[in-house]
Amino acid sequence: MIKRFFLLSIFCIFFFGLPVELVALDTDSGKTLFKNQCAGCHLNGGNIIRRGKNLKISSLKHNGIDNPEAIAKIARQGIGIMDGYKDQLGDNGDQIVANWIWEQAQKAWVQE
Ligand code: HEC
Repeated sequence: MIKRFFLLSIFCIFFFGLPVELVALDTDSGKTLFKNQCAGCHLNGGNIIRRGKNLKISSLKHNGIDNPEAIAKIARQGIGIMDGYKDQLGDNGDQIVANWIWEQAQKAWVQE
């Protein structure tokens, strides 16, 4: 009985778990890119080097960064003393991570 339940669970994970994973891929990979490339300095949307130049909505707007594309450009090319991360982010990685950051900024970096 327990064994059958176990098999059924595996079955469910395979058939119902997978599509959800696929849908979540875009935000997941944005989060992963951020964690790998940006969080070292911008943990939780902050900035450990220049505190005022963080990824919170007020700071972004104050510095004229008011859309995801502006963030993507900074991710690629860098800004001020920050290096660009074009090579590390790969194809479209700049857009994906920028969209994710923009979304987090709207939510004040409060994780669900
Ligand atoms: C080694 C530390 C470091 C890493 C890693 C880093 N940044 Fe930065 N970031 C900075 C610093 C320092 C500044 C301020 C630059 C300046 O104006 O001189 C900054 C500024 C920014 C700004 C402008 C914020 C504002 O309010 O003006 C954005 C957007 C940004 N970074 C995005 C990113 C993204 C996206 C990544 C990952 C791909 C990333 N950063 C990785 C250090 C870093």
